[in-house]
Amino acid sequence: MTSEALKFEIRDNVLSIVGKDTPEEKELKAFDLLVRDIGKAYRAELLSKEDLKELARSFGDDFLNNTMQGFGLLKPYGYAGDFMMIDKIYTQWESGIPKYKIWDEYFHNHAAPKAVRNRKKYFKKVFSNLASQTNDELHILNVASGPARDLLEIMEMAHVKDIPVFATCVDIDDNAIQYASKLLKPYEQKVSLVHKNMFFFSPEYKYDLVWSAGLFDYFNDRMFRIGLSKMKKWVSPGGTIIVGNFNKENNPSRDYMEIFGEWFLYHRTKDELIKLALDAGFERENICVSSEEENVNLFLHIKMPA
Ligand SMILES: C[S@@+](CC[C@H](N)C(=O)[O-])C[C@H]1O[C@@H](n2cnc3c(N)ncnc32)[C@H](O)[C@@H]1O
Repeated sequence: MTSEALKFEIRDNVLSIVGKDTPEEKELKAFDLLVRDIGKAYRAELLSKEDLKELARSFGDDFLNNTMQGFGLLKPYGYAGDFMMIDKIYTQWESGIPKYKIWDEYFHNHAAPKAVRNRKKYFKKVFSNLASQTNDELHILNVASGPARDLLEIMEMAHVKDIPVFATCVDIDDNAIQYASKLLKPYEQKVSLVHKNMFFFSPEYKYDLVWSAGLFDYFNDRMFRIGLSKMKKWVSPGGTIIVGNFNKENNPSRDYMEIFGEWFLYHRTKDELIKLALDAGFERENICVSSEEENVNLFLHIKMPA
């Protein structure tokens, strides 16, 4: 098949699914296969970037303005993965327009949004393990905190269990900081929110846990190393740095994110994360990599010597 014929066939197939008032399960499965084929055709250079753009927009303005997939593509705050998008993933937001609900369910059932929800669970688990080892105050730094719903749930847990915890959130986007400050209002005495680029951030204290998910996979290797080395000064002796990154070896949503959301991330393997940590000056014995249940988000752990 010529590239032109393939383009038409793919466009027709996409339109035939998009055109349905309410696609059924089998049509959404067909859409999954289509996404995979589009990804393959793009990598084989049978489709151009422009073709992908046209396909992503073939869903139409109404769809794009009222669905998770559309918010992802339109980027109302100017960048992929803004605080609102992430919070809509956490809360599994669905369109009030009945015919689009199924598309939002489809979105939330993808591996990547599941992994995002899992990373909140992961953060909470790390926190409870830490809290179980001490009665002292715990100090957490959440770098690129976005909506900070993860921290809100940690503060709620700490409140119920009477765990003394203080936290700082840093984010480059003032809208994210404003949003997080509303969410964290009940804990305003214990949480400070800092509107800053992490590369210009220099905290007054050191933290037991420095956590950052959904940031380092936007960085190239050079920025990754610089960001990670900065964190060395922010963590207490015996404390831990944890940095999340999408897994190069397992992200079944990658084509969907890139083609229909124009959401591009630096995916990395476990070994690549370890190498970056070594290059940033950490010792091998203090480094390990783990993952959430979907194995789509990896977590680089660095335990500082006491
Ligand atoms: C994908 S969200 C992740 C939010 C949150 N960590 C979570 O997982 O729920 C990425 C966040 O990184 C923030 N961000 C991007 N570059 C940053 C930088 N250089 N310094 C601080 N925040 C940054 C964005 O504003 C956005 O809120």
